[in-house]
Amino acid sequence: MWRASVLTLFPEMFPGPLGVSLLGKALESGLWSLDVHDIRAHGIGKHRTVDDTPAGGGPGMVMRADVAAAAIDAISAGEGPSRPLLCLSPRGAPLVQERVRELAEGAGAILFCARFEGLDERIIKARRMEEVSLGDFVLAGGEVAAMALIEACVRLIPGVLGADESATEESFEQGLLEYPQFTRPQAFEGTEIPPVLVSGDHAAIARWRKAEAERLTRERRPDLWTLYERRGLSARRPASSTKEPPAGGKK
Ligand SMILES: C[S@@+](CC[C@H](N)C(=O)[O-])C[C@H]1O[C@@H](n2cnc3c(N)ncnc32)[C@H](O)[C@@H]1O
Repeated sequence: MWRASVLTLFPEMFPGPLGVSLLGKALESGLWSLDVHDIRAHGIGKHRTVDDTPAGGGPGMVMRADVAAAAIDAISAGEGPSRPLLCLSPRGAPLVQERVRELAEGAGAILFCARFEGLDERIIKARRMEEVSLGDFVLAGGEVAAMALIEACVRLIPGVLGADESATEESFEQGLLEYPQFTRPQAFEGTEIPPVLVSGDHAAIARWRKAEAERLTRERRPDLWTLYERRGLSARRPASSTKEPPAGGKK
């Protein structure tokens, strides 16, 4: 069973959104498991202190390496290297669907949610933590990022999504953003559903969706589009071509 272990100063935040809808049902039925651990239980002294002032001065507080080590070791003792130890951090590698899929296919993850100015660098190195970022913005703590990561992984576990929902035809799965979606009513405020989507011609629908996915990716995510073109998947380039586009050439 895929297992998420979360280390946090705010255990009451969990399961939160992970406990509702399809993920919540899957949690109840044992398709995945969640255990949440209070870092403060390993704090120092009668006040259970978990942080201290930054070495070298500056604002805020830093989470102590010794406290973090005790919290991490209490979970991972005797477990072996089967689950990666992740530290949610804006300095980490941005989370992408490819890494989510790898994590979902593994045994689970241990997630450390930092607070304040973050975690003492020495524990990150000493426990070989993988730093993961949700994006180029700063949250107040790692909990929401951990929830997002867990949600992204759990929905890929076989049996979690309903039969009607597929995780294979989505944004990023083919290196593209997803094509636009429509549903009834046929006309909304004067705009019709594109005729091809109600034509019943499945080949034409597939061509339209691929072209739209490519157009959206080209317009909105030139970074993804460049990778996609390099992999030779674009309808505009032959599959065998791996040449870089000329500088200043088409986007
Ligand atoms: C206020 S932030 C600390 C920011 C840190 N001083 C910096 O500038 O990089 C507190 C904690 O929230 C979490 N966090 C904030 N932004 C994040 C992001 N984009 N992705 C993942 N975790 C984040 C991390 O655990 C971080 O240590």
